[in-house]
Amino acid sequence: MPTKSAKYQLTNLSTGKSSELESFSPTVGPDVLNIAPLNKDHGLFTFDPGFMSTASTESKVTYIDGDKGVLLYRGYPIEQLAAKSSFIEVAYLLIYGELPTAQRLAEFQSSITRHSMINESLLRFYNGFQYDAHPMAQISAVVASMAAFYHDSLDIYNARHREIFAHRIIAKIPTISAAAYKHMLGQPFMYPKNDLDYCGNLLQMFFAVPCEPYVVEPVYAQALDLLLILHADHEQNASTSTVRLAGSTGTNPYAAISAGIAALWGPAHGGANEAVLEMLEEIGTVDNIDKFLGRVKDKQDNTKLMGFGHRVYKNFDPRAKIIREACHKVLAKLGRSDNPLFELALRLEEIALKDEYFVSRKLYPNVDFYSGIIYSAIGIPRAMFTVMFAIARTAGWVAHWQEMISDPGMKIGRPRQLYTGQTSRDYVPIEQR
Ligand code: ACO
Repeated sequence: MPTKSAKYQLTNLSTGKSSELESFSPTVGPDVLNIAPLNKDHGLFTFDPGFMSTASTESKVTYIDGDKGVLLYRGYPIEQLAAKSSFIEVAYLLIYGELPTAQRLAEFQSSITRHSMINESLLRFYNGFQYDAHPMAQISAVVASMAAFYHDSLDIYNARHREIFAHRIIAKIPTISAAAYKHMLGQPFMYPKNDLDYCGNLLQMFFAVPCEPYVVEPVYAQALDLLLILHADHEQNASTSTVRLAGSTGTNPYAAISAGIAALWGPAHGGANEAVLEMLEEIGTVDNIDKFLGRVKDKQDNTKLMGFGHRVYKNFDPRAKIIREACHKVLAKLGRSDNPLFELALRLEEIALKDEYFVSRKLYPNVDFYSGIIYSAIGIPRAMFTVMFAIARTAGWVAHWQEMISDPGMKIGRPRQLYTGQTSRDYVPIEQR
């Protein structure tokens, strides 16, 4: 239970009736007012569309300070993890709460490697999809159907079953994603290879074909590993909250993760990386930036500067800084420093950051402003960008789902509403309407 920090008085100015509320102190960040007793004790609900001021849960996984541009996974700054860690180690950290010893890391890595194949029957699901079905539709469906394959380990109140699920989904999500990509291309599915690490194997399953040898390009694997670390978790964002809400009903964890994938798909969330590249191509050249920003600022136009703005960051998204730097390095290593889309993005960022519209609204580049440029450089097609995000975020979703289910005080998530519809009225027979 978090510590209580202060007492607040809520007074109904019409009746003069007062009520006392307490706040909780987090380990870091602003105090959180405990409004849970409000309905029971005072007959009131709170109204907060979009969760602008509402903490939906207590959590120990990830911390963000949006004003200072700070992001911590289990207390470790994202900059240190990006520079020194690996995605597999970060996944372990998120799920188990601590950095692993060398032995624990080797065991975890080996378990993930050995769980990476999927049931052959699952592979046949893909044939039911049109070749041009969006891969997010395919992976959310296949992940949901995994519950039908693992009846032996679906007891969500059994800690070992939860652990098996965690390893299985982290191991299999690249395989499931690669199968969706191969289905789009009409190419044969490539089985995972246990002599490759997580990202090397992912690239192999995406880009190898059975008739030729495939050698993993280390620059690609390193860039991918960095992107997975940066996307691995982001506290109670829309998709993670969806996983928690779905999971709070006691549904199986594959169904909860599938719900998270669906929530991630939207352009206001994980779909933004795909939309950024579409936007950059639409703008085309630096000369068109002013005209495009004119449309963004015109409220009638409904155009957004994709990859800009964030609900929590009102300063630089620290992940965007790391990815911009990585773009320079990856493109230079690949001998493509003159990438026109990257040059356009850099100039667009520079112009937007001086523009009163973006300055006054504290709109900065977010994680997805530059991620698509790296994905493109390493050969990942645009339709798969959000899928890459889902592969990374699976680690965070699992950590949050585990945290919620292992909390003995867990309750089903059930928001209330401010009802503004009709009051009770009598049914009117059809001939009288
Ligand atoms: N381009 C233009 N204007 C914007 C943008 C943008 N990208 N983002 C916010 N604004 C404007 C809004 O129109 C609003 O203006 P107003 O005060 O004149 O009405 C103001 O800035 C505040 O924005 P809200 O939409 O209220 O902010 P909110 O926190 O609800 O939305 C969001 C955050 C959804 C990320 C929004 O900034 C957005 O749509 N950005 C573009 C999509 C994107 O990049 N999403 C990825 C987010 S990060 C992630 O999920 C990985």
